[in-house]
Amino acid sequence: MKRHRININLHSILLILIGLIIVNVSFGENNSSLTEVDIEPLDGAKLYEEKTCFLCHGLDGKTPIAPIYPKIAGQELEYIRQQLKDIKSGARDNAQTAAMHGIMQLVTEEELEVIASHVASLDRGKIDQKPDRRSIGAKLFKRKTCFTCHGRKGQTPIMENYPKLAGQNAEYAVQQIKDIKSGVRNNGMAAAMNSVMFMVNDEEIDIIAKYIETLEP
Ligand code: HEC
Ligand code: HEC
Repeated sequence: MKRHRININLHSILLILIGLIIVNVSFGENNSSLTEVDIEPLDGAKLYEEKTCFLCHGLDGKTPIAPIYPKIAGQELEYIRQQLKDIKSGARDNAQTAAMHGIMQLVTEEELEVIASHVASLDRGKIDQKPDRRSIGAKLFKRKTCFTCHGRKGQTPIMENYPKLAGQNAEYAVQQIKDIKSGVRNNGMAAAMNSVMFMVNDEEIDIIAKYIETLEP
């Protein structure tokens, strides 16, 4: 157990370093482009690469470099916009968020809107595993009321600023559920979910997250 925890801490430090390096590299690029007159309309796909989003989340938005990182392709637009703003401002600063905070300082409001639309338009993709509808995970997803906000199969949240969960990395999901439960993540609409988190313990969170990962995105 102990060794696991130390690994995660080292991992976080590494990620923050990577984040800082990316910011430095991007600053360099920005300075050189100051001499050019840029009159082209903003292109979301291009910005997604220029701002280095692809390095951590994958070009397709669903192949993040670490299982503790989120898949973001085809997520709800309003939810994406809110998270980008909150990670930029620091209102969301839980878990691995620090890795991304730096680069967001180089994304303007206008660029943020265009990138968000691009990410939302990406195909969420298919999944090999078949969810077992009678598994404990499936039962818990129902019994613990998760479906009421995220949709019966985790793909149809009841609000535009609520996230889809289906197919999300289990490791990432576990961390987020725990952080929303403890209040470490309290940005956006997290309070809505926090109010029912007394119903799940760590073991149940693990089981539900593994179930979520098998759901067709
Ligand atoms: C250095 C790695 C890194 C870079 C670069 C990066 N991200 Fe992230 N991003 C993360 C991590 C890690 C998280 C999850 C934070 C956490 O643990 O709570 C995240 C979270 C997100 C989320 C919220 C996902 C959710 O389900 O709540 C979105 C949306 C997102 N990133 C989009 C982007 C976009 C767009 C860019 C480019 C402007 C970008 N990211 C650049 C690492 C990165
Ligand atoms: C009352 C509504 C509600 C209920 C019930 C609810 N959630 Fe949520 N959940 C939310 C909202 C809203 C967010 C996004 C918070 C934000 O705006 O940042 C969220 C976020 C999440 C996330 C993080 C998603 C991401 O991409 O970062 C996971 C994972 C999650 N919920 C799983 C669950 C599970 C599992 C349950 C049941 C045990 C559950 N939720 C019950 C409303 C709810």
